[in-house]
Amino acid sequence: MFPDPPAASSKAISSFLKEDRSFPPPAAFQARAAINSVSEYERLWNYAAEQPERFWAEQAESLLSWTRRWDRVLDWQIPHAKWFVGAKLNVSYNCVDRHLTTWRKNKAAIIWEGEAGETRVLTYNDLHREVCRCANTLKSLGIKKCDRVTIYMPLVPELAIAMLACARIGATHNVVFGGFSAEAIADRNNDAQARLVITADGGWRRGGLVPLKQNVDAALLKSPTVEKVLVLRRTGQEVTMQEGRDVWWHDTVDKASLDCPAEPLDSEHPLFLLYTSGSTGKPKGILHTTAGYLLHATLTSKLVFDLKDDDTYWCTADVGWVTGHSYVVYGPLANGATTLMYEGAPNHPDWGRFWQIVERHRVNILYTAPTAIRAIARQGSDIPARYDLTSLRLLGTVGEPINPETWMWYRDVIGGGRCPIVDTWWQTETGGIMIAPLPGATPTIPGSATRPFFGIVPDIVDIHGKSVEADQGGFLVIKKPWPGMLRTIWGDDERFKTQYWSQIPGVYFTGDGARRDQNGYYWIMGRIDDVLNVSGHRLSTMEIESALVSHPAVAEAAVVGAPHDLKGESIHAFVTLEASMSASSELKSVLAVHVVAQIGALARPESIYFTEALPKTRSGKIMRRLLRDIAAGRESRGDTTTLEDYSVLAKLRDSEET
Ligand code: WT7
Repeated sequence: MFPDPPAASSKAISSFLKEDRSFPPPAAFQARAAINSVSEYERLWNYAAEQPERFWAEQAESLLSWTRRWDRVLDWQIPHAKWFVGAKLNVSYNCVDRHLTTWRKNKAAIIWEGEAGETRVLTYNDLHREVCRCANTLKSLGIKKCDRVTIYMPLVPELAIAMLACARIGATHNVVFGGFSAEAIADRNNDAQARLVITADGGWRRGGLVPLKQNVDAALLKSPTVEKVLVLRRTGQEVTMQEGRDVWWHDTVDKASLDCPAEPLDSEHPLFLLYTSGSTGKPKGILHTTAGYLLHATLTSKLVFDLKDDDTYWCTADVGWVTGHSYVVYGPLANGATTLMYEGAPNHPDWGRFWQIVERHRVNILYTAPTAIRAIARQGSDIPARYDLTSLRLLGTVGEPINPETWMWYRDVIGGGRCPIVDTWWQTETGGIMIAPLPGATPTIPGSATRPFFGIVPDIVDIHGKSVEADQGGFLVIKKPWPGMLRTIWGDDERFKTQYWSQIPGVYFTGDGARRDQNGYYWIMGRIDDVLNVSGHRLSTMEIESALVSHPAVAEAAVVGAPHDLKGESIHAFVTLEASMSASSELKSVLAVHVVAQIGALARPESIYFTEALPKTRSGKIMRRLLRDIAAGRESRGDTTTLEDYSVLAKLRDSEET
């Protein structure tokens, strides 16, 4: 019933099954926690499941500021949800302005550390000033409500300022991760029909310069809808400014008026698009709207991280991913928290960098990815031991399943055995955290994301949509609408319906496999479609294949993932060349560079195999299971009787690998 699960997951299941370590919340943590017992968690979860509209309305009332109240909490025409129908509010007002009338006016909103070690602190008052100036600049560049703005920037405060400025005037932002290539920017500009790009001259990465503006220039050769480019000077590197199109941030934003009232917007006003990989075709522009998204991000930030006003909170994610949207920018700022941003790489100048930052800024809450923890743990426990990590009180993870050994290392070496760990399961599409412990209430078990958040009703079902028994693997689905859910795929509502709402009618299909144990704890097994999870980032095998095939030497390509110690999964490409081309190691490098140019460095194949043919079924479907076995260096198990040409397998095994 489980369609060909990735090999990495089946391995994970057996080790999960042996897991019997359980950690109740530490008493000292529990004593201060907002939700501090299992019974309180269960009471609220049941209440939210039975009366979701009442639950969310109460939260909306107490957590957010509105300029007009809603007429209805929810309008649910499956699969289209409208939350807080008829209400008006502004996200930028909720994240910034409303704190100015409280003691938080001079509280640090953003603490930023650059890769070279320089720091900046922006209070809420500072942030307000900069957001207003930036918003006025957007207006002077002709940007209006509902226009799309692409943001392609390094991890600097101006990135958050640009997002909040868009939100302030009702422009829809489309943040593109700074590691993506010119091709990827152009695709996203075109799909979103963006009118403006906000970028920087460059960014710093491991002491080197990333040519952001140059990438934008290349992308704009193929982005006819983009009229203007706003450029922040970050590195001082040489860039070309095109007269009439490109303007400097310091010539415009720094001189703009401070007066820019936040525009009251409809609850369902489009706040942002964020492109993510699906199993087929081009990246999907996931659409999130205003009120529901903000409420979900705000409440989960408050309760899953148990945010307190004296916390220094650090989510290490890049703002180019949804984690950075919800848990670097919107969630923490709406709560009036202090959010830390670090511009650079975790290993610059060495693998102690994260711990140096924790020590330097006395970080209390650290939210990062299993892939980062694995990479750091591998360098040895003596590196973190050189730093004072006693300020930490809570640890979190996101992006992929965390293996229990890594979890234990995180707990013992980083958390000193004293910090709860929140393993948070969610997706770009869900907008916010869906399954996670509440750190003052939920006993944790290494490897499990534990139990659903309030108002979230998941299930594990078989292919027919029937709930499976405890400890049986199946498809993870969500049975009730929730405020932060994606509203559609930009420009492709049909794809939204087929990808998320058709596999199993009536429920949201996550694309993840999972099981629920006897205690109602969820164990996420990973993606069930042809989507890889490389270092916590979703990549579509389809996209990488298209990139390969776009090279003139390539006739056909199949891409699969294999388990990887650090990255979770690594990318392996099987390539059939055009008849006139001959295989060589030079060509492998050329193809790897080509993929990087098309998509970005994170899509670089770990290995490329040249093969005369790909193993296919008689109906022409590539048998990825066999390729996965080869990539992982395993004997092929299982059925090969549907294989069209048996000799292909032997040839593949002989094909030399890079
Ligand atoms: C996919 C979503 C959510 C922000 C980062 C990734 C995997 C995410 C966990 C977790 C096991 C996880 C799932 C999910 N995933 N968090 N705690 N345990 N797997 O966002 O790029 O939309 O990817 O990441 O497979 O479907 P994304």
